Amino acid sequence: MFGLTALIAVAAVGKTVMQSRAEGPAQVRDFYEWTEAGLKGKGVYGQLGCNNCHRAMGVGEVGLAPVLDGEGTRRQRDWLVRYFDNPTSMVPGSAHDGHLGPDFRLLAPEQRMLLIEFLFGLKAGPASPNYPIPPISLTGPRS
Ligand code: HEC
Repeated sequence: MFGLTALIAVAAVGKTVMQSRAEGPAQVRDFYEWTEAGLKGKGVYGQLGCNNCHRAMGVGEVGLAPVLDGEGTRRQRDWLVRYFDNPTSMVPGSAHDGHLGPDFRLLAPEQRMLLIEFLFGLKAGPASPNYPIPPISLTGPRS
């Protein structure tokens, strides 16, 4: 009896391994790649209530503001730095000049840096609806 159970367990594990090999990198959906600063930034994101408007990591509604899952794949770090320094210079009429969303320019530089690291760690793979179209190069230079 034990022998049969063990055999079934081994067969099940074998099947899972084969499936994940067959799926390959093309099946990668949203994933997270945080530095220590990025993890701290996750806390700041929660404290500031960013998910009142944005959706990320399964929390927040769709439709009020862009979904932030995959932000770190769609945008370069440099874009985020400039957006947090001066939102309207990157997005004319941006909500983040304070008229709708929080004014990023009023945040302490440390908080901005932590949020940028957090957002840059929100990645998307080709199988994610948050993956950029047209696709970006995964091997090319990313700042
Ligand atoms: C009151 C609603 C609201 C809140 C709260 C809010 N946002 Fe936004 N956010 C928006 C809207 C609307 C946009 C659309 C682009 C724009 O207006 O700049 C946006 C855009 C963004 C973008 C740019 C996305 C892109 O790639 O184009 C980032 C990054 C962002 N928000 C981060 C944050 C963070 C971090 C917080 C918390 C500190 C936050 N938002 C809180 C409404 C909000």
